[in-house]
Amino acid sequence: MNQPEVLLGKRVLVTGAASGIGLAIAQAFSNNGAQVVMTDLPGTALEHNSNEIPGSSYIGADLSDHNEITKVADACQDVDILVNNAGLQYVSTIEEFPEERFDTILSVMLRAPFVLTKAALPGMYQRRWGRIINIASVHGLVASPFKAAYVSAKHGLLGLTKTIALEAAQRCPDVTAHAICPSYVSTPLVEHQIEAQAQATGIEPTKVLDDVLLVRNAVKRLITPADVAEAALFLCGGAAWTMTGSALSMDAGWLAH
Ligand SMILES: NC(=O)c1ccc[n+]([C@@H]2O[C@H](COP(=O)([O-])OP(=O)(O)OC[C@H]3O[C@@H](n4cnc5c(N)ncnc54)[C@H](O)[C@@H]3O)[C@@H](O)[C@H]2O)c1
Repeated sequence: MNQPEVLLGKRVLVTGAASGIGLAIAQAFSNNGAQVVMTDLPGTALEHNSNEIPGSSYIGADLSDHNEITKVADACQDVDILVNNAGLQYVSTIEEFPEERFDTILSVMLRAPFVLTKAALPGMYQRRWGRIINIASVHGLVASPFKAAYVSAKHGLLGLTKTIALEAAQRCPDVTAHAICPSYVSTPLVEHQIEAQAQATGIEPTKVLDDVLLVRNAVKRLITPADVAEAALFLCGGAAWTMTGSALSMDAGWLAH
């Protein structure tokens, strides 16, 4: 699956790279010869983690801030691979869902990928090669209750992925766009929502993993961040042009029912 040779000398920017899936992608791309730019909120483990990844650099910026995001957009101008990964969750009924939370989630998980893609595409067209990899979710394909903003953002991200693919195909067949759609992955994002899910569903926190999060998986196992990184590496290979605009499902059988 892994085709590391294509990454030698490639410049990769990963958002949300201080933690979880973004960190695993940054590590995997660096291990395979890419030069990695890691971005995340200032004050996270970003600097520490960047120091652990040889040759990487980092940019602290809040992607929901329309001014701060320009720092990251500027850095996108010379990247070959953009991984839109930063994300956050909020679990609540729609009636109690704060509108400002909805706006922040849409800003980070849909507006930011649009803004960063807009900055990255001209250089990719010029160099005749590029990859936009959007870390979506099984929640880009199906909904679950109590996640109105997250589900809306991820469905939107699949629409954005398809639109990028269609526009890029007209310009250069080796500039491609992909969405990766995992079900639950063992990261802090999932750990933090166990308590919120328990409150929203009335289920004991100790039972949330089996009775809520994994209930629709055919394989009752959390995905690892390294599994998602492996898929991202594959999408940088030569055959990826055949999959432009598609959503790569990593759902442990969720949608097979
Ligand atoms: N963990 C899962 O089960 C799962 C499943 C499917 C998809 N995903 C997606 O994978 C991506 C990564 O999630 P994760 O599970 O690794 O979570 P995580 O919480 O470990 O990492 C997310 C990162 O995004 C960063 N981030 C959040 N708000 C930001 C902002 N305003 N500006 C800049 N950075 C910001 C966080 O600081 C964090 O480092 C997300 O888009 C998430 O929706 C996760």
